Amino acid sequence: MIYQDITYEYYGVLEDNIGKDQGLPSEQIFSFQSRVDEAHRRLMDRKEAGEIGFMDLPEKEVEARAIIEMAREKRKGMDACLVLGIGGSSLGGKALRDAVKTPLYNEMPPEKRNGLPRLYFAENIDPESFSELLEILMPHRTLVVVISKSGGTAETMSQFLIAVDWLKKALGNGYNSHVVAITDPEKGALRDIAREEGFETLPIPPNVGGRFSVLTPVGLFPAAVIGIDIVSLLKGARDMGKRCASPDLKENPAYLNAVIHYLFDVEKKKPLSVLMPYADSLLSLADWYRQLYAESLGKRFNTEGEEVFCGPTPIRALGATDQHSQLQLYMEGPFDKVITFIKVGRYRRDVAIPYPLAYETPLNYLPGHSLGQLIGFEQFATSRALRHNQRPTIVLGVEEISEYTLGQLFYFYELQVAFQGQLYGVDPFDQPGVELGKKLTYGLMGREGYEKYAEDLGE
Ligand code: PA5
Repeated sequence: MIYQDITYEYYGVLEDNIGKDQGLPSEQIFSFQSRVDEAHRRLMDRKEAGEIGFMDLPEKEVEARAIIEMAREKRKGMDACLVLGIGGSSLGGKALRDAVKTPLYNEMPPEKRNGLPRLYFAENIDPESFSELLEILMPHRTLVVVISKSGGTAETMSQFLIAVDWLKKALGNGYNSHVVAITDPEKGALRDIAREEGFETLPIPPNVGGRFSVLTPVGLFPAAVIGIDIVSLLKGARDMGKRCASPDLKENPAYLNAVIHYLFDVEKKKPLSVLMPYADSLLSLADWYRQLYAESLGKRFNTEGEEVFCGPTPIRALGATDQHSQLQLYMEGPFDKVITFIKVGRYRRDVAIPYPLAYETPLNYLPGHSLGQLIGFEQFATSRALRHNQRPTIVLGVEEISEYTLGQLFYFYELQVAFQGQLYGVDPFDQPGVELGKKLTYGLMGREGYEKYAEDLGE
C-alpha cells in the first residue's frame, strides 16, 4: 500500500484564474483567519466537552483489531453478509466496499474474493428489491448485520424483522449466531432485542452521529468481514487529523475547503457543491459525502435559535460518465456551482487500447494509449475547460485508491463539514428536519402515541 498524502489544489477558485466576477481573491480567503480561529475554538470546546466523538475514532486501533478478530469468526462458513441500515448506518460501509474492493465485488467468483463473503447493503425498503435480495441469498450461509444507532429506525427495523423471520424459518432458534447488531451501547429497541435474542453486538459511541460514524463499527465491521484493512484506514484518518490540526488556513486543507465553499455560497451565490470523482469505485464515496453535507449543513435555525434557512446543496457526479450528462450545465448554465474533482494518479488496473482493425479509421489516435490515460486526460481537460468558462474548481488528488486514501478522505470531509457548520453558526450534528416526516409515518402505520399525526394528515 502507498502511504501517500492526498493533494488539495484550489487554484481554480481564485480570481486570478477565473476572473473577478466568479473567483475569490486569495486575500479574501485568508483574511477570514480570525473567524476561523473563533469557529475552531467553538468546535474544540464541544470536542473537549465530550460532545463530538468522531475526532477520537482514528486513534482506536485496539478496538479495530478486536473488530477484525470478530469479523474473522463471524464470516466463517458464510457466503454473504447482508447489512441492514440506512443513511449514516449504511453509506460509509458501502463507500468502503466500492472503493477498496470495486463496485463489482459481489459479482466476482469466490477465488477472486479470497473466499470471503459477498457484501450487500439493503438500504432501501423498496419491497421489490428487498425481496429479490433475500431470494438470491441463502439463509444458512448469510450473516446479517443490523445497524441502527437509535435502534428504532422504521426502515431498518422492518427489514430486520423480515430478515429474522427468514433466518428463523431456515435455521430455527440457532439463527442468532447469524446476526450481529451494531447499535447504542445501552439503549434502544435493537439493544434490548439483541440482549433477549443473544446476538453478538458492537457499540456505536453515543457521541458519534450516524453520518460521522464510518470509522466506528458501523463502517469497520462490514469492511473487516470482506478483508478490508481497517487499521490502514484508521491510519489514513489519523494522518489527515494531524495534517489538519492547526486552525491556520495555510496549513489546514479541510478548513480551507470549508471557507472556500462557505464564501462561494454566501458571498458569490454559488450554493451548489459538486463532487465528481473520476473513478467508479469512488461514486459511493460521493453518495456518502452528499448525505454528510446535506444533513449536517441544511438547517432552518442557527445555534442562537434564529431562522437562517441555510445550507449549500451537494451534488454527486461521476467522471467521465457525467461529462455526457451534467457537464453542459456546469459549463454554460448558471454560475451557481463549485466543482470538486477527485483525480486518481494511478488506477489499480489499466487496459491498453488495441487496434484490432485491418484498415485506417479516424480512431487510430486511440491505440497506444490506455483507458487510464484517457480518463486522466479527460479529468484534466474538463477542469481546464471549466476554468476557461470561469467556473470554480478544486482538485483532490489521490495517488492510488486504498484504505489509507479512504481514511484521509473520510476524515477530511468530516472535519470540513463539522467546521463549516461553525461558520454557518448551525449545529452540524443534529437533523431536526427529518423528525416530522418520521412522526407522520408512525401515525400512518398506527404506532401508539402518534395517532394525532395521522389525524392531522387526514384534514
Ligand atoms: O446521519 C444520521 O444521523 C442519519 O442519517 C442516520 O444515520 C439514519 O437516520 C439512520 O439512523 P439509525 O442509525 O438510528 O437507524
